Amino acid sequence: MLMLVVLGGLAASATHLLWHHENRDDQKGVSYDDIAGAYHGVTADAPLVRAMNANHPPDLSEPARKVLNDWLASGRISEDYDNIDLGDNAPDAIIANNCVSCHNRNSADIEARKIPLEYFDDVKRLAFAKNIQPTNIKILAASTHTHALALGTLSLVMGSLVLSSRYGRLGSVLLGVSGLALFVDLGSWWLARDNALWVNAILVAGPVYAGATGLMCLMVVAEMWFPARKASSDGGEE
Ligand code: HEC
Repeated sequence: MLMLVVLGGLAASATHLLWHHENRDDQKGVSYDDIAGAYHGVTADAPLVRAMNANHPPDLSEPARKVLNDWLASGRISEDYDNIDLGDNAPDAIIANNCVSCHNRNSADIEARKIPLEYFDDVKRLAFAKNIQPTNIKILAASTHTHALALGTLSLVMGSLVLSSRYGRLGSVLLGVSGLALFVDLGSWWLARDNALWVNAILVAGPVYAGATGLMCLMVVAEMWFPARKASSDGGEE
């Protein structure tokens, strides 16, 4: 029963992770940017600004490009998008005339179809720069203290259960893997603040730790249903 409680806890952790992180970058599901945002922070130009700077699309007239650039830099993205005072120079008119032929949901261009620009809701999603601040360092410290003490202790218990089961080398290897993964995961939470490369270590070590721990729980549960081991002649168990 206690092993099932631990398994339930692992499932709850995964669910919490999903709900806690998924909305950080305005895109559905947990992405690299969500995790990188939490542990390192993410800043990126708005996709529309990127497109303008990359001279995309090449045949957009210079005056029209300038209108879009000024609008994107204006801080009045919602207010001026379809401002009737701007007439034909309103961003919505320029986008309708120069972009939507490719960027619509029924477009023949399969790449452009994925980036529709038909409605303001579409455009808005691409009009703002990304600026995700990493989790406050005090919260990180609180999270580290609970995770390190609770998971370190959990792994010690799981380790002694698995090592006293029939799994031999497999149990030792799993315990070693989970210990290394927990060490790397928690350490990388801190290292990733300065260097985003460590985000990759979090993405690998976190799931490896959870997987190894879950597997150990299942092995301990299975151990109880195997036929009892007989004592061997040298006094140990087989
Ligand atoms: C001839 C078809 C065509 C037209 C016209 C066009 N695009 Fe695109 N656009 C594409 C294609 C194809 C891609 C995806 C491949 C790429 O990034 O070049 C794309 C990509 C983009 C992206 C994503 C860039 C990124 O870095 O994520 C944005 C934003 C964009 N277009 C905005 C616009 C805007 C704004 C206009 C009008 C001013 C426009 N496009 C006109 C075909 C077009």
